[in-house]
Amino acid sequence: MNYSPVAQALLTVAPPPAEVTLPFVGVIPLSSALFGLGITSLAVMIGSLGFASWLRGWRRPRQALQRKFNPYVSGEPVRRDDLFFGRDEQLKRILTVLHRNSVMIHGERRIGKTSLLFQLSDRLREAHDPDCVFVPVLVDLEGTPEPEFFHRLMEAVIETLPADDRAKLDLAYQTTATDYSARDMRRDLRVIIGHLQEQTDKTIRLILLLDEVDVMNDYDQLTQQQLRRIFMEQFAQNLGAVVAGVRISKAWDRPESPWYNLFNEIELTPFGRKDALDLLQEPVKGVYRWDEDALEFVIAHANGRPHRIQQYGLEAVNHMFEANRTTIKLADVQAAHEAILRMAEV
Ligand SMILES: Nc1ncnc2c1ncn2[C@@H]1O[C@H](COP(=O)(O)OP(=O)(O)OP(=O)(O)O)[C@@H](O)[C@H]1O
Ligand SMILES: [Mg+2]
Repeated sequence: MNYSPVAQALLTVAPPPAEVTLPFVGVIPLSSALFGLGITSLAVMIGSLGFASWLRGWRRPRQALQRKFNPYVSGEPVRRDDLFFGRDEQLKRILTVLHRNSVMIHGERRIGKTSLLFQLSDRLREAHDPDCVFVPVLVDLEGTPEPEFFHRLMEAVIETLPADDRAKLDLAYQTTATDYSARDMRRDLRVIIGHLQEQTDKTIRLILLLDEVDVMNDYDQLTQQQLRRIFMEQFAQNLGAVVAGVRISKAWDRPESPWYNLFNEIELTPFGRKDALDLLQEPVKGVYRWDEDALEFVIAHANGRPHRIQQYGLEAVNHMFEANRTTIKLADVQAAHEAILRMAEV
């Protein structure tokens, strides 16, 4: 047992000084000094972040110039979503129509039909529709001889299926078959749609995106009627089409055409001012700057034709490289104009 008296020690805690003395500032209350310190560190942090972003903003154009970064696309259809501009209304309308019906896109050469089909294919694949599962199938019919027509269509459909499914399904389609008929196509479509439908409660909508359908104008009426029956009668619920061409509107709008009155028609027209400006400015945003008069020059000379706008962008940026600048000036678009005129002469 320990009977010694309880030891006690009295501790006194000194209150912090109410004031501090700072160089140049003199004596100020401690709370203000701590507050000031916090604000200063915050300002330093923001300042250095700002400086870093300023440095990046300064470096990016120089690096782009060194790499000769030129995002404009001339010749090829646009595939990338971030380089595709305009056509919002048309896309919205087509996506609605495709739940039940088919669409015909027509417009002059180079107006953007193929680019729109690529864009549609992506949007359909990514659509989270409450009622339908869209399966887009892109088919370029350019130069397809009539006897190979149904084979070509089915080849594209089959390419969109996973390899396992292709092997598993009992299809009439053979890679090398040359005598593949409309009847074969009907049979294979039944198998494929049935297989796809087993995997979902929603309605399967296989959408054929047929580019360059003008070739079909020279096909026998019988071939066209066979396709029409497949689309409009046998698989109306599960099969839809977006056909694109230059002269189809006139050829397919006559009462004697098998396609008469079966499509929702959409004409692709030139870009309006806003879409043209987006197409010029967005691809180089944060990298190069457009001078106002250079933009206006292109708007005045490209007549809203997307391929022309892209050409001006491409050539002007190339010209800008030669001058070692990161701003696109009137001189660049004027040089582009000359280059485009020279190309048109060839
Ligand atoms: N929506 C768009 N956004 C950006 N560029 C576009 C767009 N549409 C068309 N272009 C430009 O126009 C050019 C022609 O486009 P595209 O090949 O899609 O036209 P098309 O109507 O299919 O032509 P063709 O009649 O020769 O088949 C492309 O190289 C691209 O530069
Ligand atoms: Mg095309």
